[in-house]
Amino acid sequence: MIFRQLFDSVSSTYTYLLASRRGAEALIIDPVLDRLEHYLRLLRELDLRLVKAVDTHVHADHVTALGALRDRTRCVTVMGTRSSVGVVSVRVDEGDEIQVEGLALDVLYTPGHTDDSYCFVMEDRVFTGDTLFIRGTGRTDFQNGDPYAAFESLFGKLLKLPDDTLVYPGHDYKGDTVSTIAEERAFNPRLQVDSAEAYAELMASLNLANPAMMDVAVPANQAIGLAQDALRGRGQALDVAAVRRVLHDPDVALVDLRDSGERERHGEIPGSLHLPYTRLEEHIGEGGILRTLCEETGKRIVFYCAFGERSAMAVQTAEECGVSCAVHLEGGLQAWKAAGGEVVARGSDLPRK
Ligand SMILES: [Fe+2]
Repeated sequence: MIFRQLFDSVSSTYTYLLASRRGAEALIIDPVLDRLEHYLRLLRELDLRLVKAVDTHVHADHVTALGALRDRTRCVTVMGTRSSVGVVSVRVDEGDEIQVEGLALDVLYTPGHTDDSYCFVMEDRVFTGDTLFIRGTGRTDFQNGDPYAAFESLFGKLLKLPDDTLVYPGHDYKGDTVSTIAEERAFNPRLQVDSAEAYAELMASLNLANPAMMDVAVPANQAIGLAQDALRGRGQALDVAAVRRVLHDPDVALVDLRDSGERERHGEIPGSLHLPYTRLEEHIGEGGILRTLCEETGKRIVFYCAFGERSAMAVQTAEECGVSCAVHLEGGLQAWKAAGGEVVARGSDLPRK
């Protein structure tokens, strides 16, 4: 496995780059915008294809590189369902799995530091974001933070992981890099409390100054959605009404770019073909199904996904590969459902709104 713990010394942020091997798909957790070129160079040097960029929560102390990495690599951005970010490509919740080739992260919802904080468990380790630090915990005094929720997340979820689970935090200010659950239970001064009330009292006594970057970072991090004006301007974005009009048109192929798990949980638009975004290039290349549909049957392709980001990127990728018959559903399945569009359970004819 490739496991890189990268450090931004300005914000003391840890970023994690994960892949199963050289030449494989990669995933990055909590990337910092100022380090963008560094990540891109490392990806090239290790021959990795970045497919997912994940933030544990909306950060207040640095600007995320999620949007920039998506724009430079066409990777998918991933955040939690509770996140206040405007648009990301995929939203996950507790119990979901974030997969890249050969690796899987289990999602834990761990509110407290913020109400959109998540941790990710991968085999022997947990990425704790700002929920749990080495000998510390995330502050709970802004961004809908709540010390009572933090206590539950810490004691009810993280400390229930196996003792030897490696703890990889989102920040460190003292020079530590990794710890374990057992070590934190024993030596973390914030965890030597026996009730949520005692924890809340401890957190209230901290009187911390706001992060210097907060007024810049939070709004920037909430507005990382893909700019889609150009597609709209070129007529490559269809609204729900336009997709409804072509839904049963035999010359139109509706292509769902989401992962299988998303389709199972949220259903699909009737009559969709399933081709996951991560395998788009192979379907668009010579002999690929999308190229064949377009060139040999003359069909028009309508891509859709959860929120419209993957589908917008797919239209661009298709065009660059010479497949120019593709458009996308703006706003994705979310917009479709909001407009009362029909959704069927995967593999079933039963309508589900
Ligand atoms: Fe934070």
